[in-house]
Amino acid sequence: MAIFPVRFSHKIRKLFSRDALDSFSEHMARWSHPVSARRILDTIDQQALNRIREQYPRHPNSPQINRFEDARYWVSINLKRAQDLWLDRTPRMRILDLGCGSGFFLYICKLFGHDVVGLDRDTNPLFRGTTEFLRVPRIIFDIDPCVPLPDIGEKFDLVTAYRICFQRVGREQPGVWTEWGPAEWKFFLNDIRTRFQKPGGRLLLDFNPRPDGSYFDPEVRGCFEAEGGRFFRSKVLFAADPKVRPRFNQLGPQVDDARESVILRSK
Ligand SMILES: C[S@@+](CC[C@H](N)C(=O)[O-])C[C@H]1O[C@@H](n2cnc3c(N)ncnc32)[C@H](O)[C@@H]1O
Repeated sequence: MAIFPVRFSHKIRKLFSRDALDSFSEHMARWSHPVSARRILDTIDQQALNRIREQYPRHPNSPQINRFEDARYWVSINLKRAQDLWLDRTPRMRILDLGCGSGFFLYICKLFGHDVVGLDRDTNPLFRGTTEFLRVPRIIFDIDPCVPLPDIGEKFDLVTAYRICFQRVGREQPGVWTEWGPAEWKFFLNDIRTRFQKPGGRLLLDFNPRPDGSYFDPEVRGCFEAEGGRFFRSKVLFAADPKVRPRFNQLGPQVDDARESVILRSK
């Protein structure tokens, strides 16, 4: 009997937690600005993706998250990513995606009118095939701890890195990795801020869950806090200036209605 009120109050707390409210507001923002995933899918030839996959077969027990040829699945994930940053309604941005993988996120950004470039290591032939197929430009580079990123010769409004792995430096046992600590992260953040972010630019890092369900260890979290990071579940958002609170839903100075991708709107 005593357990019920405790669990109940925990559930109520969870319901009104910051995360839950942020999640609700993300959901509402997507709902109030619907975009048609079907119209995006209509622009992609699934048969062609299947043919690329046939060239590089996946492991039979591979989880859905690794079925990178599955346009329906990856469009739905990446459309949400783009909408959660309001990329469906901001003016044209220059976007750099680190560890861009199959390229679906940048493909959708392109459909919304943004200028994009990915950066990835070239170890996965399927990603080589899909990024070429989706016409997502890609810089080949291995991100290493405390090594500057290559000189791209320009700065970006938005730098993203979804489900990142580059902070894993060595496998201790299956599923358990040695990861970057605060020193490596400080180097990386300083490199991005000084060489890749425009004033007012943002950096979004999105982490894979670790075996214990956390996304980073407490020391790294402390480092991100000290650097002005704003947390939302697996995501951490940084402004170019660590003293400025970054916004997920940042609208640019002028909304270019003519550019808005009308064909993608579902109403
Ligand atoms: C889990 S996949 C995520 C792909 C994509 N961002 C997504 O969310 O679908 C991790 C990506 O990071 C890239 N990657 C991993 N370690 C890297 C490194 N040290 N330097 C550059 N890219 C790396 C992989 O090649 C892969 O594209």
